[in-house]
Amino acid sequence: MKKILVTGGLGFIGSHTVVELQNSGYDVVIIDNLSNSKIEVLDQITSITNKKPEFYQIDLRDRNAIHSFFDTTSVDGIIHFAASKAVGESVENPLLYYENNVSSLIYILQEMLKRSVANFIFSSSCTVYGQADELPITEDAPIKPAESPYGNTKQIGEEILRDITKSSNLRTISLRYFNPIGAHESFKIGELPIGIPQNLIPYITQTAAGIRKQLSVFGNDYPTSDGTAVRDYIHVVDLAKAHIAAMQRLLSNKNKESFEVYNIGTGKGNSVLEIIHAFEKVTQQNLNYIITERRAGDIASAYADTSKANKELGWKAEKTLEEALDSAWQWQKRQ
Ligand code: WQD
Repeated sequence: MKKILVTGGLGFIGSHTVVELQNSGYDVVIIDNLSNSKIEVLDQITSITNKKPEFYQIDLRDRNAIHSFFDTTSVDGIIHFAASKAVGESVENPLLYYENNVSSLIYILQEMLKRSVANFIFSSSCTVYGQADELPITEDAPIKPAESPYGNTKQIGEEILRDITKSSNLRTISLRYFNPIGAHESFKIGELPIGIPQNLIPYITQTAAGIRKQLSVFGNDYPTSDGTAVRDYIHVVDLAKAHIAAMQRLLSNKNKESFEVYNIGTGKGNSVLEIIHAFEKVTQQNLNYIITERRAGDIASAYADTSKANKELGWKAEKTLEEALDSAWQWQKRQ
């Protein structure tokens, strides 16, 4: 049985990926520092899969701890989620982001080279494209200057991987996620934002649940069909499955290059108002919202051309927007 290390495996995307890995027959070991996740998620994963993943509470900025981990555990591949992801916080505290997201990546890669672990999947983001000149966005679209230190850490991460694969036997796949939403069908794992949600879907579900008074729609003067910004919202379980496809590609030596990049989205764009109306329809609730100013740093439209992932990874998003919104709501109601 192949063993996969999942860093950040108790987080939103990490936990869903651990479930899919276990369901696909992999052994999983998780490293998480619990900075933005809860230890209870480990039991929730176990109750879904009937198999407890190995778990180590390690902060990846701790080089010695990573070294000791690899002294005692050997793995066939690594899926690296552990990172900070709040755009606003990264503007306030850039060094925290460079340390968390870049230093820890370097430490892991150093251990991989030492121990000849060859297979690595990196969590990247559509944020690397900024406002793309053409839609849908293909992997060939130019990388635009990052709008935030967070976005820059994803660009730097990809550059490090591109360089390192040229000088070593490391094989890496960078998955550029569009907007992950939703929750597992068991509703035992889902998104757990700390404090006031920054992302649209948790803000919507918390407003519907009465935790927030009103949703602000950030701008209705974008050059889109209804003036509100357009994104590609992908069900987190579909996104998790893309990691299994990518890892299988590396483990079976099917990759064509030692550094590959894939867009992971649905290929469909929806505006904020479309999301609100779809949510209202699915949940039979009226959502209290107002239109406000644009949010600094937001772009008008982003949605993926997913044909490369469809063809090369043999993967495609299968769940509908309605399923994703319903699962987000069912999850919210259980909190
Ligand atoms: C979606 C749309 C908002 C909240 C961010 C990161 C990106 C990525 C995913 C991270 C936008 C609008 C939002 C609200 C609103 N990676 N909105 N009212 O900005 O596309 O991407 O998260 O881990 O790197 O930048 O996602 O969910 O914040 O916003 O109107 O209260 O909803 O303006 O158009 P975004 P989001």
